[in-house]
Amino acid sequence: LSGSTARILKDAIRTIPDYPKPGVAFRDITTLLGDAWAFRRAVDELVQPWAGAKIDKVAGIEARGFILGGALAHQLSSGFVPVRKKGKLPHETVRIAYSLEYGLDEMEVHKDAVKPGERVILVDDLIATGGTAEAAVRLLREIGADVLAAVFIIDLPELKGADKIRALGVPVHTLVSFE
Ligand code: PRP
Ligand code: ADE
Repeated sequence: LSGSTARILKDAIRTIPDYPKPGVAFRDITTLLGDAWAFRRAVDELVQPWAGAKIDKVAGIEARGFILGGALAHQLSSGFVPVRKKGKLPHETVRIAYSLEYGLDEMEVHKDAVKPGERVILVDDLIATGGTAEAAVRLLREIGADVLAAVFIIDLPELKGADKIRALGVPVHTLVSFE
């Protein structure tokens, strides 16, 4: 990823102070998604390390990870697995509670969403504390996935989420950082 591309992607992201809680600088990707060049470029940069690799599934985290995950799965000719907030998936699931920068929640994945040993890439828009991504890695591993990497447009390095995911043995790839 060149410095100029990183700069353009970063400039396409809008920051909303004190949302959803006082003290949080919310990094809003809707402006990037609405910019045709930036959206395509972000997707291309996220899949680039796996061009030509056999990836069975892309797992996207609700909600913003879904937008990216469909595009990544198409680019990689892989399937898509939704990791959803609790109560949304209709078939048998595994569930886990987790915390994130501004709250607590539970997420689920269908038990049969991957076959044992399938090669999976996890995607979300942003990693902050890493609580969300860590929970998703644990769920995917519980159903037998081989989680090859976790990819995000945005890293908030001060919150050390990427370190938390790397400590699980999952490489992390991000495009832009906000200090
Ligand atoms: C945001 C973001 C990540 C998560 C990151 O999602 O899209 O999923 O927070 O935070 P963490 O690294 O501290 O866990 P949010 O839960 O706000 O859900 P949304 O995508 O449905 O808005
Ligand atoms: N998820 C967790 N922290 C966030 C932030 N600062 N901006 C957008 N989404 C987030």
